[in-house]
Amino acid sequence: MIALIVGTNRPGSNTRKVARHVEEIYAELKVPLRVLDLAQLPPEIYSPASYAEKPEAFRPFADAVLQSAGLVVVTPEYNGSFPGALKYFIDMLKFPESFQKRPVCFVGLAAGVWGALRPVEQLQQVFAYRNAHVYPERVFLPRIGDTLDAAGRLKDAQLLQRLKAQAEGFVDFVERLQGIKLRDMS
Ligand SMILES: Cc1cc2nc3c(=O)[nH]c(=O)nc-3n(C[C@H](O)[C@H](O)[C@H](O)COP(=O)(O)O)c2cc1C
Repeated sequence: MIALIVGTNRPGSNTRKVARHVEEIYAELKVPLRVLDLAQLPPEIYSPASYAEKPEAFRPFADAVLQSAGLVVVTPEYNGSFPGALKYFIDMLKFPESFQKRPVCFVGLAAGVWGALRPVEQLQQVFAYRNAHVYPERVFLPRIGDTLDAAGRLKDAQLLQRLKAQAEGFVDFVERLQGIKLRDMS
């Protein structure tokens, strides 16, 4: 299973809309995918006591990361970086096994023209530090306000194609690194 991290907890986020496209692409590839939406995190996780003891309601999130064959992180740009909620989520996960040798791939979106290049590169640093296998092909979605239509769908076929190509390449990468088959060939 691939776990997809929706990298913000902002209600109604564009990140969630882009993540929905990614979900559909993996469904077309017949690759099982589990969505971990930071907007769904239990509020108790934000208690300072969580550093020492994680609330029971956080377990499905932590376990999904540990059970995943690979991770897809979709992140927006907040103040030239990735959201604090995403860093906090990372900090709450089990260390070191959550990212150790785990393949990870990144999609970034932003209101600005750089399409979340900064947050994605910062995340690559964090995941490389944690010994993840960082998939090199990233997808950046600039001017996201103009790129999504009123229904929250990507208007640009070329961007959609980039997401598809990334997903296909990432599935290959995960299958080779993990020595498993993710695709249902039946
Ligand atoms: C707290 C906050 C900070 C932001 N900072 C930036 C920024 O530094 N650069 C940028 O291009 N867009 C910035 N934006 C705009 C987001 O990239 C934009 O809202 C986009 O839709 C992705 O965020 P969303 O998933 O919350 O919708 C910011 C938005 C928020 C809520």
